[in-house]
Amino acid sequence: MRRWMLLAGAAAAVAVSGTVLWPREQGPVLEPERAALLRETGATIPRNRPSGKVHEVELVAAPTTAQLLEGRALDVWAYNGQVPGPTIRARAGDKLRVRLRNELPQPTTIHWHGLRLPNGMDGVPGVTQPPIESGASFTYEFVLPDAGTFWFHPHVRGSEQVERGLHGVLIVEPRDDEPRERELVWLLDDWRLAEDGQIDPEFVTRHDLAHDGRWGQISTVNGRVRPTVDVRAGEAVLVRLINAANGRIFAPDLSAFDANVVAFDGVPTSRPLPATKLELAPGNRADVLLRVPADANGTIDVVDRFTRRPFVLATLRVDGKVENAPLAPREFREVPAWTSASALEPDHVFELNAARGGRAGIEWQINGKAMVHDDGHAKHDPPTKLQLGRPTKLRFVNASARLHPMHLHGQFFKVIARNGQPVDEGHWRDTVLLRGRDSVDVVVVPEDEGTWALHCHILEHHDSGMMTLVKVERAR
Ligand code: C2O
Ligand code: CU
Repeated sequence: MRRWMLLAGAAAAVAVSGTVLWPREQGPVLEPERAALLRETGATIPRNRPSGKVHEVELVAAPTTAQLLEGRALDVWAYNGQVPGPTIRARAGDKLRVRLRNELPQPTTIHWHGLRLPNGMDGVPGVTQPPIESGASFTYEFVLPDAGTFWFHPHVRGSEQVERGLHGVLIVEPRDDEPRERELVWLLDDWRLAEDGQIDPEFVTRHDLAHDGRWGQISTVNGRVRPTVDVRAGEAVLVRLINAANGRIFAPDLSAFDANVVAFDGVPTSRPLPATKLELAPGNRADVLLRVPADANGTIDVVDRFTRRPFVLATLRVDGKVENAPLAPREFREVPAWTSASALEPDHVFELNAARGGRAGIEWQINGKAMVHDDGHAKHDPPTKLQLGRPTKLRFVNASARLHPMHLHGQFFKVIARNGQPVDEGHWRDTVLLRGRDSVDVVVVPEDEGTWALHCHILEHHDSGMMTLVKVERAR
């Protein structure tokens, strides 16, 4: 086969905000079909240049009691005594420096879900850092290249630590000071309580593993059951939705509004995407710009319709009116369709299935291997190698009947096909949901070197082994 070296001026050495992502003399050797993918508009997502400013945050992870759900005292594990943890708001280009002190009875780490950051700051125990032992501290420090909605959570025994309340939202504001719509941040979660009303202390049960993880009997928005939120008729509101549940998929019905997804998994969409059929698997985020109808009055329920038993997530109470204010200018970003990638063979196939094994009798595997890592000391096979800068096609094949939201750390990818049918979602992702027997093709252009986790974000599946590693390396 003829091979081509991409030369100066071609899209391979992408100059983004003044930084060159990889020196062109070390650019990957690509076949023409693959090189063409890099030339599509939007094929790489530009990064904000470092501003030189530092945003400092102190976090303490510790057990505490909080007033949650319907106002009852709940024993939780929390960042700074709050569930959800404090919302960190920083600005794109700033350096975030977070000092975490671990006062939990277990080791922990923080993973910055969806962020592009240096590998050593990614929070994967036994892979990118040693676990932070009880009583110890660790400082995370990295520049925030992308404005958008992100979140953070432990990567040690997530099935327990995230469920007990350790999670928080990270909002990276754009660099400009443009006025914007009023914002609501809605962290969606659910809780499985035992008979005493406390968090059920049985984690990763056989039932959880035989199904789609731990689904609780109570769903919350920011830790509260069915909160009421005031809006005004005619008002435009940006709702940042984050699914922090261990296993539950949320499908909020926003059809009462003119509602459009303007960012998904932290990246602007290519255009406003009507928020019908909005589905958030664990890990996913969506920024939805919604306009309250000008003639609205009384209350409007936001109903979750993922399961056959719909329930009210939150109630909007229309209080007052604004004259149809114009929408703030907003950035959309072209997303490559990558239709021609359908013709490429997948570079790597990941088969998802369960097998007998593990503590609860079932373990979840990728390509026949379970990577058990919940003590923070991961034993693993050599990672799958990915070449820096090379558009790479990954295929996930769900050989099981269960749900698997597959999450890749440190990079965004684009779904190009589902069950053999080409799809163009119009947005990037870091987590894609597979239903039973689904096969999903994605394309990723790895831009950051290091060993990155690839796993199911149903935390019980994850903690029973459903994780693997990819290693992004420069071409040699
Ligand atoms: Cu939010 Cu490795 O996950
Ligand atoms: Cu799974």
